[in-house]
Amino acid sequence: MAREFTRVGVVGLGTMGAGIVEVFARNGLDVTAVEISDAALERGRATLTGSTDRAVAKGKLAEAERDALMARVDFRVGLDALHDVDLVIEAVPEHLDLKQRIFAELDRVCKPEAILATNTSSLSVTEISVATTRPNQVIGIHFFNPAPVMKLVEVVRTVVTSADVVADVEALCERLGKVDVTISDRAGFIANALLFGYLNHAVGMFEARYATREDIDAAMKLGCGLPMGPLALMDLIGLDTAYEILDTMYRRGGRDRRHAPAPLLKQMVTAGLLGRKSGRGFYTYERPGSPKVVPDEYTPLAADAALADGARAIAKVGVVGSGTMATGIIEVFAKAGYEIISVTRGAEKSAKVCEAVKTSLNKGVVRGKLSETDRDAALGRITWSATLEHLADVDLVVEAVIEELSVKKALFASLDEICKPGVVLATTTSSLPVIDVAMATQRPADVVGLHFFNPAPIMPLVEIVQTIRTSAETSATARAVCAKLGKTGVVCGDRSGFIVNALLFPYLNDAVKMLEASYSTADDIDYAMKLGCGYPMGPFELLDVVGLDVSLAIQRELYLELREPGFAPAPLLEHLVTAGYLGRKSGRGFRDHTRR
Ligand SMILES: NC(=O)c1ccc[n+]([C@@H]2O[C@H](COP(=O)([O-])OP(=O)(O)OC[C@H]3O[C@@H](n4cnc5c(N)ncnc54)[C@H](O)[C@@H]3O)[C@@H](O)[C@H]2O)c1
Repeated sequence: MAREFTRVGVVGLGTMGAGIVEVFARNGLDVTAVEISDAALERGRATLTGSTDRAVAKGKLAEAERDALMARVDFRVGLDALHDVDLVIEAVPEHLDLKQRIFAELDRVCKPEAILATNTSSLSVTEISVATTRPNQVIGIHFFNPAPVMKLVEVVRTVVTSADVVADVEALCERLGKVDVTISDRAGFIANALLFGYLNHAVGMFEARYATREDIDAAMKLGCGLPMGPLALMDLIGLDTAYEILDTMYRRGGRDRRHAPAPLLKQMVTAGLLGRKSGRGFYTYERPGSPKVVPDEYTPLAADAALADGARAIAKVGVVGSGTMATGIIEVFAKAGYEIISVTRGAEKSAKVCEAVKTSLNKGVVRGKLSETDRDAALGRITWSATLEHLADVDLVVEAVIEELSVKKALFASLDEICKPGVVLATTTSSLPVIDVAMATQRPADVVGLHFFNPAPIMPLVEIVQTIRTSAETSATARAVCAKLGKTGVVCGDRSGFIVNALLFPYLNDAVKMLEASYSTADDIDYAMKLGCGYPMGPFELLDVVGLDVSLAIQRELYLELREPGFAPAPLLEHLVTAGYLGRKSGRGFRDHTRR
C-alpha cells in the first residue's frame, strides 16, 4: 500500500513553486507554501491567484473550486512551518549550495518519515541528498513548466533512494493526474538533456544575427509543430534559471560545448532581462509575469511592408521539377493566383505532375476547402512544358529538381542564359549551400533559397535563405511572394540545415545517443518530450516518419559543415541505416511497423 499524503510542503514560490502548489491544492492536498520573505510570499500568492483566476475565467475551474483550492494553502515565511508535512518539494533557484543548505535545514525541521524532494532540473539529486541524514528519503520530482498544464513528471531516484519512497512518489504522481517516468540521476534527466542543447543553439543563432527572434521562433513552431519557439520558451523558463541549468549541464554532462551558455544569456541575466517574470527577455511583455508580448524596437514591420521595401513585382512563375516538392509548389502558386509555367524533363512527367496537382486540388474541393471555380481557375493558370526556354519571360523561377549539386548548378547556368534580367532565381534545396548554386550564374544577387516543407500545400513555413551575395531586393521579393502565398517566410543565412533542420536534427541525434547509452527507453523518451514539452511527436516517432537514412544524411551534413563534435551522428543511427531499418517506409526503424 502506497503511503497516503495529506499535507505537503513547497519551498520557493517562483515560476515553478507556485505552479506546483496549484497542482497539489487542486488535487485535494493541504499545502504549506514557504518563501524566504514576506515580499516573496506575496509575489507567490499573487502568481497562484493570477493562475487560478485565469482558470476560472476560461471556465476550467469553478469559483467555489478556486476558493477551496486557495483555502488549502497555508502561506508561510521560513522553513520551520514545514514541521508537520509528509513530503516537501523544494523549488528554489538552481544553486547547489543553496539547495544543500535548505535540505540540511529541512532534515532538521521535518518529521523523520517525511520525504524530501527537489525540483532541480540539472543538479545532482545525490549531492543534494547527502546534505541530510536521510539520503534514502531524498528524491527528485521534476515538474515541467507550467506545472498545472504539463502532464509529465520525471521521478529521479539516486542510488540510495529507497524503493518504498520511489513507489510512494509514483503513486502520488498518479493521484495528481501526471504521467511519471522514473530515471536515474543524470544531468538534465531526459527532457532537459534533450531540450537545452537545442535552446542554447537557438540563442546562439540569434546572437550571431543568423535570424531574428520572430523568425527563429516561427520556424520551430510552424516547421515542427512545437507549442512555442525556443526563445519564447527561454523567456518562460526564466533566463537566470536557464543559464544555471546550462552551466550545470555543461559541468556535469561531460563539458559538451553545446551546453556552455551562450554569452548573450549571461549578459541578459546581468542586465535583469530574465524573461516573462521580469517583463523583458528576448521579448517584451505587457508587465512582469504577463504572457502577453508587446511590440518593442525589434518588432519587425508587417509582411506587406516588405512590398514597399523594394520587392519586385512577380506575376509569372516558372517551377522546374516533377517530384513531390515541385508538384506541391505548383499547386501553392496556382492557388495564390500566379501564372505558372511548369517545366519537367518530358511530356510523360508533365502529365504525371498535372494529374497529381489535379488530384490534390480535387481533394480540396471534396473537403470543401476550395470551390470548383477556384480549382478550374488554378488549373487554368498552369502551362505544362518540357522546354526550359519557355522560362524566358517569367519573373521568378523556383527550382525543385533532384538534391544533387551538379544537377542544380547546371540548371542554374542554363537559367542564367535563358531568363530575362531581373528575374529572381530560387532553389528549394534543403541541404546544399545556396551560394554554390548562385555562383553557377552570372547574377548571384538574384539567387535565393526558398525552402518549402513537405507537403507544401499544407505546411505554413518557408525558409528564405539569403547568401552573402543575395541582394536586399531579391530577399524582399521572396518575402513578399511568401506573404502572397499565405506562408510565413522566415529569413536566415546560408548555413547547413538553415533554421529548422539545424535545430531539430541534433536534438533527434541526441535522443538516439541517450537510447544507445541505455539511460531510458524509446517509449519513455518519446513520452518525456510529448508530455513534458508539448511536442507533437517524440523523437523516435519522428525519426521513423522522416526516415533514418534521411535523418542520418542531414546530421552528417551538419557535422561536416559545422565541425561540432556533439553533432557527430550517433553510431546506433548509422547501424540501423546500414541494417536497412529506415523507419516507417521500410517497415522497421526504432519501432517495428509491420505489426501495427
Ligand atoms: N523554470 C522552469 O521552467 C523550471 C522547470 C522545471 C524545474 N525548474 C527548477 O525549479 C527550481 C526553481 O526554479 P524557478 O524557475 O521556479 O526559479 P524562480 O527564480 O522563479 O523561483 C525561485 C523562488 O525561490 C525563492 N527562494 C529563494 N531562496 C529561498 C529560501 N531560502 N527559502 C524559500 N524560498 C526561497 C525565491 O524567492 C523565488 O521565489 C530550480 O531548481 C529549477 O531548475 C525550473
